[in-house]
Amino acid sequence: MKLLVTGGAGFIGSNFVRYFLREHPEDEVVNLDALTYAGNLENLSDIEGDPRYTFVHGSITDRDLVFDLVKDVDAIVNFAAESHVDRSILDADAFVKTNVLGTLVLLDAALAHGKKRFHHVSTDEVFGSLGPDDPAFDENTPYAPRNPYSASKAASDHLVRAYFHTHGLPITISNCSNNYGPYHFPEKMIPLFISNLKEGKTVPVYGDGLQIRDWIYVEDHCSGVDAVLQKGKIGETYTLGDDNEVKNLDLTKTMIGLLGLSEDRIEFVKDRPGHDRRYATNSSKAREELGWEAKTTLEEGLRLTIDWYEDHKEWSDRCKSGAYKEYYEKNYGSK
Ligand code: NAD
Ligand code: DAU
Repeated sequence: MKLLVTGGAGFIGSNFVRYFLREHPEDEVVNLDALTYAGNLENLSDIEGDPRYTFVHGSITDRDLVFDLVKDVDAIVNFAAESHVDRSILDADAFVKTNVLGTLVLLDAALAHGKKRFHHVSTDEVFGSLGPDDPAFDENTPYAPRNPYSASKAASDHLVRAYFHTHGLPITISNCSNNYGPYHFPEKMIPLFISNLKEGKTVPVYGDGLQIRDWIYVEDHCSGVDAVLQKGKIGETYTLGDDNEVKNLDLTKTMIGLLGLSEDRIEFVKDRPGHDRRYATNSSKAREELGWEAKTTLEEGLRLTIDWYEDHKEWSDRCKSGAYKEYYEKNYGSK
């Protein structure tokens, strides 16, 4: 199979490209990435010379480029997105352009070139915010996005499903919970907190810190996306998660404990506007239909992640300083 992966230079996309090439030695990957602030080719420097891997610098909103690339692949996995909720609160423009219009361009290209297989990577945030006793999100949960990021992802999910019902495009969608692990850009909670703690700084806990997220190790999300791609039923949605509901404050204390530091490093700061209170996922459909399940416990995953950031301090420093952008210039010429 020749796979077009979009957003493969980002956090989950780069983990997925590495995972896919390792698990499918006969297959090829074309990685289309616009290299926004979140795209970092250093994430994939170890597979740069692999003849089964090609990088293309460009946007999923570029119709000519996308149509050209889709012509020559068997399937598309769409990770490309603006993904940070806080940024969407400051300016939602790029979120609608990439997440909604970019997805539309990919769908049109998949349709135009003989109905190519299309997997769309989405989020549990499209379902909104749960109360303390509500059942976890699953495939039947109504959409109720509450921030511009999740609204744009919800719109993209609806378009993907509409192309199945209207045009018979062979699609699947996965809605996954909060990922963490290697190559996570240090503006999201877990990598930001690890790097702040390592640098002797405080960690900014939003509001009362009692919001709940359901964490999954990124490698487990990658195996879930692959399972849906290979075995998922066309037209269906799969919820992916790991039953790891934790309050942000408790998670912060766990990270502080793992690093052997003191809880006086916690700084409560102003809450995120419209902050979703609780996410939880029920992955029984993926377990039963695909035989997939997450394998990494939160404790193991946090340890692996902290170790990875300790071993890759330079990577994290280069993300924070912006120096990671030099990698593209050096290896692919100026933009
Ligand atoms: P990320 O921000 O780390 O990476 C996004 C990547 O997309 C970057 O490499 C960026 O350069 C690229 N990109 C952005 N705009 C583009 C465009 N117009 N054309 C081509 N490439 C573009 O994001 P992530 O955390 O790796 O998330 C990847 C996908 O997974 C997203 O669709 C996100 O909604 C979804 N998701 C993320 C999580 C999570 O916890 N991070 C959970 C569930 C689902
Ligand atoms: O649920 C899946 C989603 O998880 C993905 O769709 C998003 O792309 C991904 O970014 C993530 O969204 P969150 O908003 O949940 O992740 P973030 O790391 O930004 O925040 C996690 C929690 O921690 C959230 O409740 C807000 C809080 N937080 C975050 C930051 C950055 C803090 O308390 N302080 C912080 O500095």
